[in-house]
Amino acid sequence: MRKRSIIQMTLVGVAVGAALALVALLIPWLPDAASEQAGIIDSVYWLVTVICVAIFAIVAGVAVYAVYKFRAPPDDLDDGSPIHGHTGLEIVWTLVPTALVTLIAVYSGVALAKAENLPEDDGHRVVHVTAEQFAWSYEYPDVELENGEPLRSGELVLPVDQPVEFLITSKDVLHSFWVPEWRMKQDAVRGVTTRTVVEPTKLGTFEVICTELCGLGHAIMRSQARVLSTADFEAWVAEQRRLAAEGGSVQGEALFTAQCASCHILEAAGSQGQVGPNLDEALQGADEEFVRESIVDPSASIAEGYEDVMPDNFGELFTDEQIDGLVEYLLESTGGG
Ligand code: CUA
Repeated sequence: MRKRSIIQMTLVGVAVGAALALVALLIPWLPDAASEQAGIIDSVYWLVTVICVAIFAIVAGVAVYAVYKFRAPPDDLDDGSPIHGHTGLEIVWTLVPTALVTLIAVYSGVALAKAENLPEDDGHRVVHVTAEQFAWSYEYPDVELENGEPLRSGELVLPVDQPVEFLITSKDVLHSFWVPEWRMKQDAVRGVTTRTVVEPTKLGTFEVICTELCGLGHAIMRSQARVLSTADFEAWVAEQRRLAAEGGSVQGEALFTAQCASCHILEAAGSQGQVGPNLDEALQGADEEFVRESIVDPSASIAEGYEDVMPDNFGELFTDEQIDGLVEYLLESTGGG
């Protein structure tokens, strides 16, 4: 009877274990891997997962077996027999975890060094990332506009298959720069420049996420990363140059799309953001002064039902010319003026 029960228990354990292993293997737990670094980082996840699954299976198996095998019969009212330490067992359960933790530490260190390694010879691209409550902005130091300023953008646009070194900082509190599909994650710290390296390997649009609790707008602190073919990237850069040179509401529209569209509805731009007020309503018939104030000093007047989460440094981030263009574009689009 007892032997049969143990066989039954073992069969149930094997069946449940197999089912759980299938769940672990068949469900794609990790996001799409879209960078050269993703495979390296994922190998660390899987190493740790395999070690944890094996240890859990051994511990749970022994625990379940011991509960069954050494349980007291119903008529046994004795105290258990006294047990002293087992030196051999203690040495094993100290040495094995020490070896495993050392393995994980060394493997992770080597993986990170490999992921953040840039080939010495070829000219990689540098992108400055600036975090602030609650927005991301990007500067391309190697792309100079006609007015001598570097190209700045509210969306991150990159060519595929080229390594990028991100130099990251914050204007206020701690934030953290992360695109899940690229895996690499790095803190943004005020007064410090941190770095990370990503080589995007897939075309597409990805979400840049802030992963450090940074205040009221943390959950909405997102921007877009677009990975383009080299030709499309060059075309994008040329377009940004042209818009910057053209000025006026044309430049304003580009700035709106890059910087404002993710949070505001504006019919003229086809934007659907719901974080801030619907601009078709909020700016209807507004005068230039109100539109300008709403951009450079958004806290001055908060629309009812909305939080004070809009970045307040657009006046520093963008040139007067760009702000003029944005004001002009918004007035044109909402019938104010
Ligand atoms: Cu910025 Cu969370």
